[in-house]
Amino acid sequence: MCGIVGYIGKKEAYPIILEGLKRLEYRGYDSAGIALYDGENLKLSKTKGKVSDLENKITKDKQLTNGNVGIGHTRWATHGVPNDVNSHPHYSNSGELVIIHNGIIENYASIKKELINRGYTFSSDTDTEVLINLIEDVKKNENVKLGKAVQIALNQVIGAYAIAVFDKNKPDEIVVAKLGSPLAIGVGEDEFFIASDATPFLEYTKKAIYLEDEEMAIVRLKKGVKIRKIKDDSLVAPYIQELQLNLEQIVKGGYDHFMLKEIHEQPEAIKDTYRGRLNVKEGLIRMAGIDDNLERILNANRIIVIACGTSWHAGLVAEYIFEDLARIPVEVEYASEFRYRNPVITEKDVVIAISQSGETADTLAAIKLAKSKGAFVFGVCNVVGSSIARETHAGAYTHAGPEIGVASTKAFTTQITVLTLIALKLAKEKGTISKSVFQHHLQELELIPGKVEKALLQDEHIKTVAETYKDAKNCLYLGRGYNFPVALEGALKLKEISYIHAEGYPAAEMKHGPIALIDEQMPVFVIATKKGHYEKVVSNIQEIKSRKGKIIGIVTEGDEDVKHLADHVIEVPDTIESLTPLLTTIPLQLLSYHIAVMLDKNVDQPRNLAKSVTVE
Ligand code: F6R
Repeated sequence: MCGIVGYIGKKEAYPIILEGLKRLEYRGYDSAGIALYDGENLKLSKTKGKVSDLENKITKDKQLTNGNVGIGHTRWATHGVPNDVNSHPHYSNSGELVIIHNGIIENYASIKKELINRGYTFSSDTDTEVLINLIEDVKKNENVKLGKAVQIALNQVIGAYAIAVFDKNKPDEIVVAKLGSPLAIGVGEDEFFIASDATPFLEYTKKAIYLEDEEMAIVRLKKGVKIRKIKDDSLVAPYIQELQLNLEQIVKGGYDHFMLKEIHEQPEAIKDTYRGRLNVKEGLIRMAGIDDNLERILNANRIIVIACGTSWHAGLVAEYIFEDLARIPVEVEYASEFRYRNPVITEKDVVIAISQSGETADTLAAIKLAKSKGAFVFGVCNVVGSSIARETHAGAYTHAGPEIGVASTKAFTTQITVLTLIALKLAKEKGTISKSVFQHHLQELELIPGKVEKALLQDEHIKTVAETYKDAKNCLYLGRGYNFPVALEGALKLKEISYIHAEGYPAAEMKHGPIALIDEQMPVFVIATKKGHYEKVVSNIQEIKSRKGKIIGIVTEGDEDVKHLADHVIEVPDTIESLTPLLTTIPLQLLSYHIAVMLDKNVDQPRNLAKSVTVE
């Protein structure tokens, strides 16, 4: 959560930082601020609200925006409500130092108390203002330069951070540090960029250094980047990576919202996921991360999947696929529960951690716990070079491209694609499915992008369904087997962007409680594809109908039975059962999207949410 940006070089820093903040707004958008140094003065502007509010404020107040060095922040509040004062950047008491921070300083209260005893005053409720004053205190008392002061201060704090600190007495440098939150340094010609991810500096440089946890760097104009370990002060040689991202990938490309663009990108994204891995002609799946660790994975007693949110739903789909095809027992855990419940993990366990961002704090902590108990940890991530990708023993990227809409869409379907490839590969190696079943799966998987495209053609029809149910106060989503996780995901999509209360349930679980909710006001979205317990789901639909619930069936093309019972049906192409989630998810994503647009909600930046949850 929170996005940080910095620039030091010869260009005007303001437009670079402002545009960078807009690109990082997916990380948090309840307040924003920028500090600029113009060679004489350190100027600061911040406000509650979005980056556009900050821009308007700066324009309206005719604030000066010149300066070749500066830092900026877009916030997702942790300590202190979103207001102007709590917004970042924060000055130190002397007004000489300024900081931006993504993360949480857990022991800020005790440090604050000590600093108050020493005469420091605080205007905000944030942990960040405490950190910058701690740095100032160390700098003064120990008579050290900014870099050393940051290092000494960080050795006193407990928590997570990506920070950038500027000292107006040392205007040729910015000091950055990272623990638990991401931080990239863009390396240009006589200029440097600092950001939570590489998107703010893509048009300026394709060279980036990703700091590792417990590293800090002094980014100095003429001397370059010097990286040190925060704990023991040892020097680290900077590893400069060549970025593969393009600017076009991070703009809306004619769509009204990133979410809609990303929904429509799914056919290509799924293709990109299996490209180079799936070879239907030769009947092969190649995945380096699996191939290189095959014995370890095949000999696993069980697979434990850890993830959060939508990624956890992808993990639930994986449970069905792995158990069904590869006959390996699977448990799927919320990372936040797993990390704190003293789980039994052995060296014979394989853990699969799923994360779009690769930065989710709970998933990262769960990985570390599993590793400490000797488990082999395999990552399924989208963001290349992310913390989770680096923390895991091996992994497979989803190659979905940047997902910027806060509601996850293409990440989900590409995660399922990767997990399906893994399950098929293991099933083949173990001999738990026949050659012909394996081959049939490969053929069907290759057809999925085309079928997703077909499912997307239902968009106009889905809009009319959305119009009918947009004013509902509650909704139910039902599915069985492989489509139970899709029901959960459909409900989550609706909740998070339209703020309509929605619940996902296994269809047969209805009669154990939720059926009491059904009346003529309750829309029930039922996934009733031909493959997968079809007759049983039809019976569940009958039960809802006889209690006057409104039924919207997600059905296989040409279905007649559900059509007769349902108020609306939305068709998806036919496929094998294990692949149906890749198709049934599509109309549910579009439905949520259209309902949210009709309700005039901020689809790409829903309230209270942020794209990557880097705090507990
Ligand atoms: C929902 C959504 C979240 C994320 C969750 C995990 O649309 O985006 O539920 O799925 O925060 O994030 P990652 O996958 O980045 O670990």
